[in-house]
Amino acid sequence: MSKAHTVESLFGALWDDYQHQCPSATAIHKLLGGGKAIINDHVAFRTFNLPEVGLEKLAAHFLALGYEAKGEYRFEQKKLAARHFEHPDPTAPKVFISELLLEQCSTELQDTVKAMVAQLPANAADAPDFLYSGAQWQVSQAQYDALLKESEYAAWLSAFGYRANHFTVDVNALDGYETLEAVNQALKDAGFALNSSGGEIKGSAEVLLEQSSTLADKVAVSFSDDERVIPSCFYEFALRYPKADGQLYTGFVAASADKIFESTDAR
Ligand code: NI
Repeated sequence: MSKAHTVESLFGALWDDYQHQCPSATAIHKLLGGGKAIINDHVAFRTFNLPEVGLEKLAAHFLALGYEAKGEYRFEQKKLAARHFEHPDPTAPKVFISELLLEQCSTELQDTVKAMVAQLPANAADAPDFLYSGAQWQVSQAQYDALLKESEYAAWLSAFGYRANHFTVDVNALDGYETLEAVNQALKDAGFALNSSGGEIKGSAEVLLEQSSTLADKVAVSFSDDERVIPSCFYEFALRYPKADGQLYTGFVAASADKIFESTDAR
C-alpha cells in the first residue's frame, strides 16, 4: 500500500505514468526545456459522474494537498462538466477535472460504464495511487467500439482509466519562447503532429489564454479479448495573458478546452 502523497510526489508519479502513455512527451520535454525543468500549467483528468469515481472523488486527492476549487465549466455537446483547482503555490500545476454526465447518455453506455466501475475494488478512488491506477477493469474491443460511436471521451476512459490525460507546459515560464506560435513551430520542425481542430492555437490574447496540443500518441492497449493500438495521451502548451489587475489569468476557456478534448480522437 502506498503512503500519502506530497504535491511533488503525486505529480512525480503522474508524470512517470504519463510518459509511458505519451512517449513523445519525454522527447518534447527535452526539446523545449533543453534539459532544464519545465513548469506545468495544468494536468487534466477524466472520469464518469458516478458516486464511486466522480469529479469530487478525484478532487479530494488535491484538496487534501491544499488545492482549492476554482472555475466550473460545461461542455454541452460532449456532455461533460468540469472544474479546475489551484494551489496557493503558483508553481504547483493547476488541476482540470472533467466528468461525463452519464444520465445524458444512452442506457447502453450507462450499463457498460456501470459494469466497468463495479469491477473496481471497494473504495478504489480513495487509494493514494488511484489517480495513476489506469483502467482496473476488463473491457472488450466491441465495448470500446460501441462507446467510441457515442462518446470518444467514454471510450478513452474505458481503455486508459485513471491517469493524467495530459500535462501542459507553462509557456510563460519557458525560456527561449516568446509566443505559442514559436513553440508550435519548434514542435512541427521536430516532426510532432499538432491538434488542428479549431486551428492550431485555441483561444487568444482577448480571452487571456492561448492553448495548443499535440495529437495523442498511440499505444497498445490490452482489451479483454485482444490487444489494439489506439490514441492515448497528448501534451498541451498554454500561454496566459495578464488580467486588468496585472496578474496572469488562471482560468480556462470552455470553447478552447472543447477542442483540446479532441486531441485523443480516433483517427
Ligand atoms: Ni488542458
